[in-house]
Amino acid sequence: MNAAIRAIVKTCLHHKITPFGIYDGYQGMIEGKGKELKYRDVDNVIQLGGTILGSARSAEFKETEGRKKAISFLESEHVDGLIVIGGDGTFTGGTVLNEEMNIPVIGIPGTIDNDIYGTDFTIGFDTALNTVIDAVDKIRDTASSHHRVFFIEVMGRDAGFIALYSAIAGGAESVLIPEEKTDLKKLAHTIRHGYKGRRSTIILVAEGDDEGHALDILGKVKPLLPEYDLRHSVLGHIQRGGSPSVQDRILATRLGNYAVQLLLDDKSGFATGVKGNELVACPMIDAIKEHASPNLAYLELLEVLRTK
Ligand code: F6P
Repeated sequence: MNAAIRAIVKTCLHHKITPFGIYDGYQGMIEGKGKELKYRDVDNVIQLGGTILGSARSAEFKETEGRKKAISFLESEHVDGLIVIGGDGTFTGGTVLNEEMNIPVIGIPGTIDNDIYGTDFTIGFDTALNTVIDAVDKIRDTASSHHRVFFIEVMGRDAGFIALYSAIAGGAESVLIPEEKTDLKKLAHTIRHGYKGRRSTIILVAEGDDEGHALDILGKVKPLLPEYDLRHSVLGHIQRGGSPSVQDRILATRLGNYAVQLLLDDKSGFATGVKGNELVACPMIDAIKEHASPNLAYLELLEVLRTK
């Protein structure tokens, strides 16, 4: 996200517009936390994880009274265009502000889950994948030394993008994702018969899988595979931090620049994104309503790669 903030600030300054940063999202807007951002404020931030502006969940912003405070802060600071970075909740907040204050709003998709409609990729996804792959490779060492079956849980409350992409890139034997009904008997059968001769088996589990978390799944499969050494590992919040990957830095820089361009072109209510390698703008309302799902052809690909 810092790469996007940097690009927004620098593009604004390039066009002689004053960039104003709001700290801690909508909650910070309510509390009047913001300041003009100078060139120096975004020096040496492209390599930083997290966000220099902070983030917060705001229950108050969901109430009219809270939003009134936010609007009066924006008015007092003469903010005449808003760029919000985040997912569904962030875009919903932006849409409501756009309606209630009539301020132009542009969204930038930022979530490691990659489940935002209207873009092929969201900021953070590629970095999270690289972290997951690093962990999967390391776990593979133990798995193959000890002839173990590992269930590795990755983030993805509602979507299996991280699990599916890292299953392909990590050479996993199988993947369990919310978009596909999990059949544990079939999984146990595949573990027993599908990977004969392999020293290790790695199964990527999206946290939102219909059969539960990795530990639940291990517990359910264990009675079917009593002689196997089963283990689980939950990667957790390490997936949400760290220095961003090259892909993410470039994506965020392009989207930040594009968001300013859209405001300059008097556009409002759009979420920025990439399709193919082209920048696109999708109505924010569609980005909120629709849900992005991973390409399930990747599951077939995994099956092909697994079959002897
Ligand atoms: O951003 C979405 C997400 O990454 C989910 O995949 C995950 O369940 C959630 O964030 C974790 O959020 P929190 O930090 O609130 O536990």
